Amino acid sequence: MTNLLHLFLLLLLRSGFSSGGPLYHTCGLSNYTSNSDYKSNLNQLLRILTSTNSSFTTNTTGSTPNTVYGLFLCRGDVGLSNCRACIQNATKDIGSLCPSSKEATVWYDNCELRYSDLRFFSSLDYRGSYFLANPKNVTNNVEGFIRLQKELLDDITSYTAYNSPTMFATGTAMNETNSNASFTLSGLAQCTRDLSAEDCGQCLIVARAMYTGSEASTGGRILTKSCNFRYEMYGFYQGKPDVLLNLTTPVKTRTPPPAPDTHEAPAREGSKNNTKKVLSIIISIVVAVMLLVTICIYFWKKRATKLTLGKHRAKSGKTNLEDDLLLLDLSTLKVATDYFSEANKLGEGGFGSVYKGKLADGQEIAVKRLSTSSTQGVEELKNEILLLAKLQHRNLVKLLGGCLEEQEKLLVYEYVPNRSLDNLLFDPVECKLNWSERFNIIGGIARGLFYLHEESHLNAIHRDLKASNILLDTDMTAKISDFGLARLFGGDETQGTTSRVVGTFGYMAPEYALHGHFSTKVDVFSYGVLVLEIITGKMCSRFYDSERAEDFLSYVWEHWSNGQILQIVDPSLEIFSKNEILRCIHIALLCVQEVPDERPSMSSAVIMLHSPSVPLKSPTKPRFARGMISSSMLPKSTDMGSSDEFARMVLPISVNDVSITEMQPR
Ligand SMILES: *[C@@H]1O[C@H](CO)[C@@H](O)[C@H](O)[C@H]1NC(C)=O
Ligand SMILES: *[C@@H]1O[C@H](CO)[C@@H](O)[C@H](O)[C@H]1NC(C)=O
Ligand SMILES: *[C@@H]1O[C@H](CO)[C@@H](O)[C@H](O)[C@H]1NC(C)=O
Ligand SMILES: *[C@@H]1O[C@H](CO)[C@@H](O)[C@H](O)[C@H]1NC(C)=O
Ligand SMILES: *[C@@H]1O[C@H](CO)[C@@H](O)[C@H](O)[C@H]1NC(C)=O
Ligand SMILES: *[C@@H]1O[C@H](CO)[C@@H](O)[C@H](O)[C@H]1NC(C)=O
Ligand SMILES: *[C@@H]1O[C@H](CO)[C@@H](O)[C@H](O)[C@H]1NC(C)=O
Ligand SMILES: *[C@@H]1O[C@H](CO)[C@@H](O)[C@H](O)[C@H]1NC(C)=O
Repeated sequence: MTNLLHLFLLLLLRSGFSSGGPLYHTCGLSNYTSNSDYKSNLNQLLRILTSTNSSFTTNTTGSTPNTVYGLFLCRGDVGLSNCRACIQNATKDIGSLCPSSKEATVWYDNCELRYSDLRFFSSLDYRGSYFLANPKNVTNNVEGFIRLQKELLDDITSYTAYNSPTMFATGTAMNETNSNASFTLSGLAQCTRDLSAEDCGQCLIVARAMYTGSEASTGGRILTKSCNFRYEMYGFYQGKPDVLLNLTTPVKTRTPPPAPDTHEAPAREGSKNNTKKVLSIIISIVVAVMLLVTICIYFWKKRATKLTLGKHRAKSGKTNLEDDLLLLDLSTLKVATDYFSEANKLGEGGFGSVYKGKLADGQEIAVKRLSTSSTQGVEELKNEILLLAKLQHRNLVKLLGGCLEEQEKLLVYEYVPNRSLDNLLFDPVECKLNWSERFNIIGGIARGLFYLHEESHLNAIHRDLKASNILLDTDMTAKISDFGLARLFGGDETQGTTSRVVGTFGYMAPEYALHGHFSTKVDVFSYGVLVLEIITGKMCSRFYDSERAEDFLSYVWEHWSNGQILQIVDPSLEIFSKNEILRCIHIALLCVQEVPDERPSMSSAVIMLHSPSVPLKSPTKPRFARGMISSSMLPKSTDMGSSDEFARMVLPISVNDVSITEMQPR
């Protein structure tokens, strides 16, 4: 009986793979009304997309608030005429699949069509992702199959993201040594071409993580709005593979070399009698590189003080570390900020004040004037700024440069015009953030932290993540600010114990607040609190002063364990996806677990957030922050909302450690 069912499913899947009908679709939550401007803009957009003679395009119709953004993408090996036929079907089908939806995506074998009322170009979106695995599993040599599949998809992923101009790659891998356990695997991967290479790579990594657990399936695919991949045990793509793994022969041959690994390629191909030649090539490369570096350093030193911001931004900052540093003249910054006038003051943050400035070329900047209590030497500080300037990610505020002159220590950031998250979120009158925007913010912060902790290889820890440190640009993209300041000031390694706890009450992980132990899991804790704030619209730190003295986390936990969690969702959210909210709360509760190891890493948080198929552990009751630190230790503040400094604590743990632990008998 079950075998029959499997056979049926298999037939269904196989036929679904080749019929030309829609594979899957996902519709947004909010609707437009018939006869609305939105509808006519949408119709116009679909007409434009249908008549576009290309395999990828984006277009926009209408003006705010009725703008419609659209995109289509055809599979890279599909000819233009088949592409057009697919898009024609898609524009027809999408209206009946998602009637009156303001947002929709439909996937076919040969193409993807997407539109939305939000500008989604160049950003990653994993919502509504679809997972398809053939129910039939391989039985022979499962381990070898999974290994080969991983290797194939790794190579296709990096080829798609970093080598292919169309962000599409195909590949075949075979292992035919033993006729019993032999097999051939074909695969492809593709990203929408509006993405950066890094985002494409990340999208495919997350998509593949969604596939975890089904690797033994004989075929499968993941469809996300931003990227997709597929593999089968038969050939299914047209043309020559970009990646070929032939494990039949003892030495791997790949065409072309998968990674941009220029030094290894000649060595790999060279046979023994070529060793000398290879060696001399390597030596000449080394000499050339050394020469180049020397020249670079020379020119950098000459130019560093003269550089203007405009010039720096024109460069694609991916060269030498030192090349990235932008040192600005103090006089330039004084003019830009009108001599740090009160009128230009944007706020008072941790470590100093922030001023808005405008450079001679019109570019707006934010200048952080650090209070100069740092014990670090100028060289050390310069190195730190160099490192921070390397951190470039859509969800991090960009550090443009610095200035270390005449006792002044200044950091120059890109200016983010919209306001900070706390301003928008906790303003009962003005909070107009809908669920889609909030979910995007939750996802954006997670990706920014993921980058900070893991992807950037800098293993930076923020240590003061909170709503007022999240800036929102005009697209409502979340940008984390003030990262790296703890690193600048604490002079710490990536993990350890510090005598100077920097953080904000309510967001601080217990092990950090109590013992000064920090690791990336300290940020994960703060992230959990932040997500709960975004969903409830309540500010965690307000809880500590309230009459009931009820703790924010225990308030959330109480409703969670009573099964009444939806009651605490921000009442200003009218339309939302219940499943998404429940999943976000669940993940947030995992992030605020007392034991750091129980908290997920940010990469798994990103994956859990976007793939409903990944199962979640059950959270246990989070550690109550109440009683952990007595409220008398908080700065007495009557006007809690007005100051960024509210509830900021700088605890000299080494002195007060004993009394703090005494307050929390175990
Ligand atoms: C378009 O849809 C029709 C009807 O569903 C189908 O027969 C045809 O194969 C589809 N064409 C493509 C290119 O998907
Ligand atoms: C939007 O329309 C769909 C189908 O017409 C309906 O099921 C859904 O409830 C509507 N959503 C809202 C928020 O009105
Ligand atoms: C589409 O473009 C291709 C080449 O760019 C061209 O050969 C083809 O004739 C065009 N088709 C239409 C219908 O314009
Ligand atoms: C959108 O489509 C219109 C009509 O085909 C075209 O004129 C315009 O250049 C397109 N815009 C973009 C941004 O591609
Ligand atoms: C294939 O493997 C998956 C994951 O291990 C399992 O859930 C599924 O039941 C298996 N399918 C069959 C038909 O055995
Ligand atoms: C290829 O197949 C042979 C024989 O089954 C096996 O020993 C080897 O591990 C396989 N290699 C891979 C990468 O699967
Ligand atoms: C194939 O190999 C498996 C073990 O990997 C073995 O159990 C099976 O009998 C073999 N089948 C044949 C036809 O050799
Ligand atoms: C893989 O290598 C084997 C052994 O050298 C060879 O017979 C086979 O043709 C190769 N396959 C491909 C597709 O190159």
